[in-house]
Amino acid sequence: PAPGWSIDADVVVVGSGVAGLTAALRCEAAGLRTVVVTKARLDAGSTRWAQGGIAAALGEGDTPAQHLDDTLVAGAGLCDEEAVRLLVTEGPAAVRRLISTGARFDTDAAGEIALTREGGHHRRRIAHAGGDATGAEISRALVEAVQARGLRTIEHALVLDLLTDAEGRTAGVTLHVMGEGAHDGVGAVRAPAVVLATGGMGQVFSATTNPSVSTGDGVALALRAGAEVSDLEFVQFHPTVLFLGPDAEGQQPLVSEAVRGEGAHLVDADGVRFMVGQHELAELAPRDIVAKGIMRRMRETGAAHMYLDARHFGADMWEHRFPTILAACRAHGIDPVTEPIPVAPAAHYASGGVRTDAAGRTTVPGLYACGEVACTGVHGANRLASNSLLEGLVYAERIAADITSEARTAAGAPDTVVPDTVVPGTAAPETVVPEAPTQPLPAAEDRLAVQRAMTDGAGVLRSADSLRRAAEELAALHTAAAEGTGKRPVPGTETWETANLLLVARVLVEAARRREETRGCHWREDRPDRDDEGWRRHIVVRLGEGRT
Ligand code: SIN
Repeated sequence: PAPGWSIDADVVVVGSGVAGLTAALRCEAAGLRTVVVTKARLDAGSTRWAQGGIAAALGEGDTPAQHLDDTLVAGAGLCDEEAVRLLVTEGPAAVRRLISTGARFDTDAAGEIALTREGGHHRRRIAHAGGDATGAEISRALVEAVQARGLRTIEHALVLDLLTDAEGRTAGVTLHVMGEGAHDGVGAVRAPAVVLATGGMGQVFSATTNPSVSTGDGVALALRAGAEVSDLEFVQFHPTVLFLGPDAEGQQPLVSEAVRGEGAHLVDADGVRFMVGQHELAELAPRDIVAKGIMRRMRETGAAHMYLDARHFGADMWEHRFPTILAACRAHGIDPVTEPIPVAPAAHYASGGVRTDAAGRTTVPGLYACGEVACTGVHGANRLASNSLLEGLVYAERIAADITSEARTAAGAPDTVVPDTVVPGTAAPETVVPEAPTQPLPAAEDRLAVQRAMTDGAGVLRSADSLRRAAEELAALHTAAAEGTGKRPVPGTETWETANLLLVARVLVEAARRREETRGCHWREDRPDRDDEGWRRHIVVRLGEGRT
């Protein structure tokens, strides 16, 4: 739709989690006219839901080099080592700057930042706040800082498309805004730099830890704008999500890895600790290994879930260290102080996303991406626990530095260097350019069919057959929308979100079909082994010409 209003800025940040607000605060501090647009309220995204914490080599004896090693191991051969090096080296100072911005982390008896462990970390290096409410505290601090600095923000604004100039450079975004006075309806923010910080796409599956706003809007926008996306097949399933029944849908309560980090055990219905002997770190193995261990045991025993047993923590520790999880469990009739918690894996994090270089630049000039929407190369085939808040923070700062330096030298027209497609240490990527993928508008109700197709065919365990079925079901939804034979779409936020979900689901399934191996969080039942010779490379997707 054509914009009915427009405002001008130097930079528009889309999204208001740790990545978006950090980028916005840094740009504004450098004197740029900065506008933040966000789909719901400023604190509605995934950041607020993060429990375990933020990883950084802050503890005595820990080093960025050890954090790098753990990240590379979890990433299963597909991390960009240089991107990881930047993350772990700049991480500790970035966390301290976050503290200066106002975030209050838990401290130990000596007044130092208290650190816990999570899967894949060989050391205690996870800083946390409010026990298990780390994201809520980070979000509070950043939202308050944004408000104190008087940054211009537009809430309830779904981003629609990228605006470009005649040379194909970024010129802003179009938005659909609901009930925000002067800026109601479809409008535009015109700016030579756009920072996508829209978060993830967990809502592409039936059950996810992600909030309802995580509908892949940024990846869909980037695809429509002709940007490259990478590694979409690597969807991370969190091993321990509170099990609320086999047909539970929508956002599900997370039971943080930190619960295992503090000594909880994964057990089957007979009380057997089935992760012992599977990996040297047992329950604290990298996330993909624990999720697979749980799924295997569920299959062997015919159970719909496993259990997390932390009764030995006692009431006091539960109340002080994990108040959020305790309350969520009790709200569903489970008391972790006296009984094991039923848990099963659920979709949690998109390790892939819009491809960027070390400065957060995408392949479209002036378009940046950071946080979960981005694929900076730090996560590879499986993100290390608690590296996501850190990545959002570090790469948002790198983007702000790039925009402000470019703005200074090029009079408000940041340039883009196309990132190298060959990640050092990996083979050349497989680049997929689907033919003229038109984007018809499905009905909002089609969302459920997308989610079911994805959960059934492209979930934690996949095969060529299951992925083919998912692809067929998604193609049928796409065709019905294109030919007008499906349900009638009513233009509006939920309908556009469904179009985004359908697009990212189709690209994700295409990538998962091509990757004929098992690696990291991509688990192919029919290709159970890792194939370094054939597949130590990325799958990069770019939409072809003729898109609408
Ligand atoms: C958790 O607390 O288990 C989530 C941490 C993460 O996703 O990094």
